[in-house]
Amino acid sequence: MTSSLRLGVNIDHVATVRNARGDGYPDPVRAAEMALAAGADGITAHLREDRRHISDADIDALAVITRRRGRPLNLEMAVTGEMEAIALAHRPHAACLVPERREEVTTEGGLDVAGGHNLIAPVVRRLADAGIRVSCFIDADVLQVAAASAVGAQVVELHTGAYCQAVRERSRHAEAILGRLKGAAREGARLGLEVHAGHGIDYETVGAVAAIPELAELNIGHFLIGEAIFIGLGPAIQRMRTLMDEARATRAA
Ligand code: PXP
Repeated sequence: MTSSLRLGVNIDHVATVRNARGDGYPDPVRAAEMALAAGADGITAHLREDRRHISDADIDALAVITRRRGRPLNLEMAVTGEMEAIALAHRPHAACLVPERREEVTTEGGLDVAGGHNLIAPVVRRLADAGIRVSCFIDADVLQVAAASAVGAQVVELHTGAYCQAVRERSRHAEAILGRLKGAAREGARLGLEVHAGHGIDYETVGAVAAIPELAELNIGHFLIGEAIFIGLGPAIQRMRTLMDEARATRAA
């Protein structure tokens, strides 16, 4: 079954394992090839300013293999001159603007698009002029959705980290956080934006997120790479796809 909800597989943490030993194994580019063969619709990679996982050479190679296979590369990037130049050099299918702090373990919150309008809008314009679909990674907040629309982004990616953590902790706030994700997705669609979601998604949380009808794409990384240790990358992706498809089918029934 073909799902109208796309799956972007983030392969950053293959590079994390590689970098633990400082040589070439395991290769995130090989993981990207396997992910596409297993049913991923696209590849996502975050070139962080500190290069803690994905390297410039990885982006070079990922741009080549995704182009060769006619599949989208989604480059996650901070709003900096250096990252903008790299994006413009490669012209990936999409660029997702994310906040970045060196001391964070992962992307801990969404980009403050409302507060950073004057800095972000020209970057969005230059990337979009180069034919790159620009996405803003934001918290599930209707004000940030409106701000993303105002800077000219075509896509918003809603940060699902708080929801996934609440589910893992069995927090009574999980439903309310899910409600905010649904509201932000609705607002994005109302404004004509394509709406994506990602961060922290696993087998347990994917169903409720995938069932949000406005979503067009999920980006999932850490859990899939972790699960690959136990069952292999292909089977982990296939299982995630099945859960996404089931959530959509249940909603449609
Ligand atoms: N989407 C964005 C914008 C991200 O920054 C990340 C993490 O790099 C993800 C999705 C994937 O999150 P996770 O690795 O927790 O699945």
